[in-house]
Amino acid sequence: MDENLKTIEFPSARILGIESSCDETAAAVLENGREILSSVVASQVELHAKYGGVFPEVASRQHIQTVYAVIEQALQDAHLSVKDIDAIAVTRGPGLAGSLVVGMNAAKGLALASGVPLIGVNHLESHIYSSWINSHITEEYPEPPKFPILALLVSGGHTELNLMPDHLLYKRLGSTMDDAAGEAFDKVARLLGLPYPGGPSIQKAAKEGNPEAFNFPRAWMEGTWNFSFSGLKTAVLRVVRGIEESGKDLPVNDLAASFQAAVVEVLVGKTLSAAKQFNAAEIVVAGGVSANTALRNAILTQAEIPVHIPILKLCTDNAAMVASAGYFRFINGKRDPLDIDVLPTWPLS
Ligand SMILES: Nc1ncnc2c1ncn2[C@@H]1O[C@H](COP(=O)(O)OP(=O)(O)OP(=O)(O)O)[C@@H](O)[C@H]1O
Ligand SMILES: [Mg+2]
Repeated sequence: MDENLKTIEFPSARILGIESSCDETAAAVLENGREILSSVVASQVELHAKYGGVFPEVASRQHIQTVYAVIEQALQDAHLSVKDIDAIAVTRGPGLAGSLVVGMNAAKGLALASGVPLIGVNHLESHIYSSWINSHITEEYPEPPKFPILALLVSGGHTELNLMPDHLLYKRLGSTMDDAAGEAFDKVARLLGLPYPGGPSIQKAAKEGNPEAFNFPRAWMEGTWNFSFSGLKTAVLRVVRGIEESGKDLPVNDLAASFQAAVVEVLVGKTLSAAKQFNAAEIVVAGGVSANTALRNAILTQAEIPVHIPILKLCTDNAAMVASAGYFRFINGKRDPLDIDVLPTWPLS
């Protein structure tokens, strides 16, 4: 990393971000890594709902149909043309190969036609950089996060704790040994007969339920910073089967609330312990599961240091976060050639 990065004071640059790693086609224009000039997200949720999860081939073909319209809309909303853009940041990975390729090729086409440089961005880095965008839930901390940062990334495909000593630097402390937190929400929702995507459905049901109704296991993974959610999922399955066999109605709301409480307790407990142990100045929570109200409330009330969580629409996949991560790469001199490949597997550190 460039040693001078710390001293660079947010120089002026407009970045077009493009995201297509999973089932959202998105484009956004960001000024100086923090100000949203436009942000367009075309969600495929309804298309995939009937499959109970993302159907990869359907996702990539839908991206093909929407990607240029979404980019055009983002530029139009920002009242800019490609020539006014300093760099095109595009999600290079991790994600579904067939989906990533669509955004990547659109970005390459634009870069080739306009001469604007291309920057490939890590999707996990993008989730983390959503906390640099000027729109925080935590109004008492309107400043960008301060290093060293303890970042909890909780999304559909990932659950990990990273220590960030500075921009673009990540030391992974631990990650999930099995299911990601978002994946656990999605699978348990299916067990409870709740609609896809599972996270918001569980949250809604949990609001009407008792979080202490069932004492589900907490996998603390003592002595490590790792997580595990498959045992919890199995515990819910066992209880559900038992109740079904007894012929009684499933207490869906209580099950959802008790499951959610178990996930939140472990996520918050381990994040706060890691922040303390590694002397983090501030905490960042990112990824789709950071939209969860119980998680947001718990970490905001229990943490003794500032916590940054993006506003709801920046928690799940969007392109403003891609443009933000792209901005910090851009001001650090990073550029990519037009023959870069997508990276369906691409760890942060
Ligand atoms: N309110 C919520 N509570 C809990 N989970 C939620 C909530 N809202 C969304 N989620 C979960 O977030 C996940 C989607 O997040 P995101 O878009 O970041 O995942 P992804 O892009 O598919 O995965 P990754 O970022 O790891 O590649 C889903 O698993 C969804 O159930
Ligand atoms: Mg994501």
